[in-house]
Amino acid sequence: MLTTSKTFHMHTVEELTAMSLFQRFQTHDWRLELFTLTFCVVFAVLYKVGDLYNNSKVTSFLNGVRGVFEKNFALYGVGDKQLYVKDSSENYSSYASGRENISKVNINFRLAPRQNAFLWAMESIMSMFMESVVAPEDRVDIVITPSVEYEHFITAIVSKLGMNLFRKTNYYLSLTRTNDSSLLPESFVFMSEANEFQEKTFTQQLASSLNLSMGSFLNFIAFTDQAQEKPEVLRDLIPKRRIVISTKAVSGKKQLAELSEVVEAVLDIVDQIAAKQITFKPEAARKIIKAREVEIEKIQKVQELVKQEALAEEKAAMKKKEKDDFKKLSRDEQLKAEQKAQDKKLKKAQKKMRVRS
Ligand SMILES: *[C@@H]1O[C@H](CO)[C@@H](O)[C@H](O)[C@H]1NC(C)=O
Ligand SMILES: *[C@@H]1O[C@H](CO)[C@@H](O)[C@H](O)[C@H]1NC(C)=O
Ligand SMILES: *[C@@H]1O[C@H](CO)[C@@H](O)[C@H](O)[C@H]1NC(C)=O
Ligand SMILES: *[C@@H]1O[C@H](CO)[C@@H](O)[C@H](O)[C@H]1NC(C)=O
Ligand SMILES: *[C@@H]1O[C@H](CO)[C@@H](O)[C@H](O)[C@H]1NC(C)=O
Repeated sequence: MLTTSKTFHMHTVEELTAMSLFQRFQTHDWRLELFTLTFCVVFAVLYKVGDLYNNSKVTSFLNGVRGVFEKNFALYGVGDKQLYVKDSSENYSSYASGRENISKVNINFRLAPRQNAFLWAMESIMSMFMESVVAPEDRVDIVITPSVEYEHFITAIVSKLGMNLFRKTNYYLSLTRTNDSSLLPESFVFMSEANEFQEKTFTQQLASSLNLSMGSFLNFIAFTDQAQEKPEVLRDLIPKRRIVISTKAVSGKKQLAELSEVVEAVLDIVDQIAAKQITFKPEAARKIIKAREVEIEKIQKVQELVKQEALAEEKAAMKKKEKDDFKKLSRDEQLKAEQKAQDKKLKKAQKKMRVRS
């Protein structure tokens, strides 16, 4: 009689041919396959869940600020009824355009890497104790590029939570001075290159759009013309006007409504600048030009240093080559070469004497 306790290989060919397909199936131990299959399914489900979670995070943010963008812009989203494009697993972006005085708005999402839940948890915990480890958090930068010309300057309203980090990771903020003003909710500070700019851009509407509790998610609002990355060559210093509203990727209705108010207030500031209702004192603008010149000089100095180092290195390499060549010569040739070098020196010295006398 057939027994199913024997594994596939223990059966003879005769036994196997006598079995039905189901009986043959039963002879094999399927535990490993079952385990692998389960693992794959769980993995795929987790991946899908992660993807859905990410997409819903981005969608809920974009829907939360939809009102202010659709009210102001002819186009909101990336066309084809799509609100955003997924640039990579962690980077999403959206777009708005078609408004007077504004050339475009880019909305850039940067989700904190968390494909490895364990690593992510570790980073989150470590960042509580160590300042150098940046807490992984989902961020959105709303970058408004105006189409109007105005002075080059940097002024920002920055949340006190993480203000040192923002200074460190944004070159343009590193160029400013911090001013803890009583005009702002206590959770924010000004960072600007001159009081003139922070005062003139702090309109009534912007003031009333801010709130103490917003310091917990609104990282900063910055008017800038300089790059985020620290410049290395002069080209990086070419000014590019824009207003960056940097925030955590919140999903609360109330927070998104508050954020919309901020966007509205910033658009209004640009309009006021365009209409010359806001103008800046020429002294303040001159101060900025000076500040930019200092930055240009810094880069030129570094470049000069690099050049000199390269030259010194080249010289050292040449000397070494001469020495090596000399070693390769026979004793006779070495003597000859030495004699030649000495003659050369002598001639040089004589020439100098002749010039001097
Ligand atoms: C979801 O977003 C996280 C970043 O927060 C990323 O690491 C992960 O790969 C994304 N998942 C998918 C399926 O795209
Ligand atoms: C997302 O964008 C940032 C900067 O734009 C880049 O450094 C990072 O590698 C991107 N992430 C992925 C997963 O492509
Ligand atoms: C801080 O800002 C306020 C308001 O703009 C200004 O009046 C004050 O002079 C500033 N303080 C410093 C030290 O610049
Ligand atoms: C400030 O926050 C309080 C409580 O969260 C809220 O009731 C109030 O409306 C907010 N004010 C503004 C100007 O957003
Ligand atoms: C854009 O600026 C002009 C002034 O140059 C102003 O008249 C106009 O109202 C502004 N546009 C909007 C939509 O406010």
